[in-house]
Amino acid sequence: MTPSAVSLEAVTARFAGPGGTEYTAVEGVTLDVAEGAFVSLVGPSGCGKSTLLNMAAGLLAPSVGTVRIFGDPLRGINRRATCMFQQEALLPWKTVLDNVTLSLTFRKPRERKQSEELGRLWLKRVGLEEFADRFPYQLSGGMRKRVAMAQNWIAGPDILLMDEPFSALDIHTRLRMEGEILNLWAGSNKTVLFVTHDLEEAIALSDEVLVLSAGPAGRLVGRYPVDLPRPRNLIDIRAEPRFADLYRSIWTDLREEVLKSYERADYERRHAS
Ligand SMILES: Nc1ncnc2c1ncn2[C@@H]1O[C@H](COP(=O)(O)OP(=O)(O)OP(=O)(O)O)[C@@H](O)[C@H]1O
Ligand SMILES: [Mg+2]
Repeated sequence: MTPSAVSLEAVTARFAGPGGTEYTAVEGVTLDVAEGAFVSLVGPSGCGKSTLLNMAAGLLAPSVGTVRIFGDPLRGINRRATCMFQQEALLPWKTVLDNVTLSLTFRKPRERKQSEELGRLWLKRVGLEEFADRFPYQLSGGMRKRVAMAQNWIAGPDILLMDEPFSALDIHTRLRMEGEILNLWAGSNKTVLFVTHDLEEAIALSDEVLVLSAGPAGRLVGRYPVDLPRPRNLIDIRAEPRFADLYRSIWTDLREEVLKSYERADYERRHAS
């Protein structure tokens, strides 16, 4: 059997809190992402989505449990993955082209011309070939995300870890970016682990949606395969009856966790004052 691209095996993440206390962000989470799959992680704010993604990226070691990447225990940074975060990750003093080719200069001492050609090819793929010599501040938010996407894909990762990459974008730009990510992913055999607050986005893009419980000690409370055919039309798909069915059943789980997280936040506010 081929090993999963990403396996979290009974992972727990504890953080040091104020006054020597300890906070358990996630507890005993086991999940697998098969090679080539597109899997989304949803759950209320603070439930540990970013924490799990950081563990898969090797940016955070689990307090308990094991992370495996293609079957091998992960120690240190996950070299087979790239990460795309919600925040801007472009270097403001570098041009669009230099931002896109950043990982090439870091990873291998390629010929400059070769990396430039590859950079231009990727800029073309994300529709920004004419912006190669601009600086990030001269682009719109959506364009900057496309640069970040090219920057991630050019490195040729086997795994893409994405933490709410499009949440700051307006709905139209977002739909476009979602379409672009699916186009890049389709047929690539790359594995995507995608974190989002938006259940519609999760269903529209994914092969499977994983629901996490409210923190502290977030756990996995549901796994939902998404059996909608591909390729998907991201605008029309939301109107399909099967989409609505999936949305309803996942939302039943998620709603409960979101309500719990509100109750906990209320409780903490009352006891903090
Ligand atoms: N380095 C850290 N030190 C202390 N606590 C942390 C640290 N990182 C995360 N936490 C806590 O762990 C919990 C989970 O955080 P995490 O960022 O994973 O949540 P999330 O599900 O990504 O939330 P959001 O949807 O708001 O991004 C939160 O309560 C957070 O305060
Ligand atoms: Mg987060």
